[in-house]
Amino acid sequence: MKTYIIANWKANKSVSAAKQWCTDFLAARPTSEHTVVICPGFQLLQTVAAELQSSTYALGAQTVSPFAQGAYTGAVAATQLSELHVQYVLVGHSERRKYFHETSEVVAQQVSQALQAGSTPVVCIDVPYLHEQLSLIPESELQQCLVAYEPLASIGTGVHEDVGSVQSVVSQVHAFSAEVPVLYGGSVNSENVQEYCLVTRGVLVGGASLDAAAFADLVAAVA
Ligand code: PGA
Repeated sequence: MKTYIIANWKANKSVSAAKQWCTDFLAARPTSEHTVVICPGFQLLQTVAAELQSSTYALGAQTVSPFAQGAYTGAVAATQLSELHVQYVLVGHSERRKYFHETSEVVAQQVSQALQAGSTPVVCIDVPYLHEQLSLIPESELQQCLVAYEPLASIGTGVHEDVGSVQSVVSQVHAFSAEVPVLYGGSVNSENVQEYCLVTRGVLVGGASLDAAAFADLVAAVA
């Protein structure tokens, strides 16, 4: 079964740093039959798309407007992202909830927008709002998504979740949609990635994706 390895650069990298990352990553070219997705900031999407165009790596965005195109200052609509070859969209990341006040209702709208535009939403959840969030997404839509379990205490802290707890959350998500691929995110690195991939369909990687060589090692570590 296909495993997803998703890099979330968050608000990091200049245009030249993004280009250099792509050059270094392509030079390392980790051989992988899995799906590797790079999620740079909006302003870097075109650069990264151009650098990776002849590779098998896919492009993702870190968020999307809950609305269609129109009078929504500062927003980027899902259809605008598709035009930039974006195939995956992260929605509901805990940093979006905390700093930008996105709610589960907004995330459900983002899922609909992304799907209508033909991209795959990656719905980020944590246990306190897992039920609320997944209840708001119709099953017909949820089965077209990926779900990323990202415990708040593990994001960017080096304190990664134990595999048994991850497995239990995978079962809770499958109660909403039996086949939806569930990923894990939170302090994933090349040393621990393999054990998470045994109980999930992949990983969402923040800090360890910023260095091209470290991320290439991580991709190579997923057997
Ligand atoms: P981290 O971030 O790998 O730096 O913990 C993961 C995420 O926030 O997606």
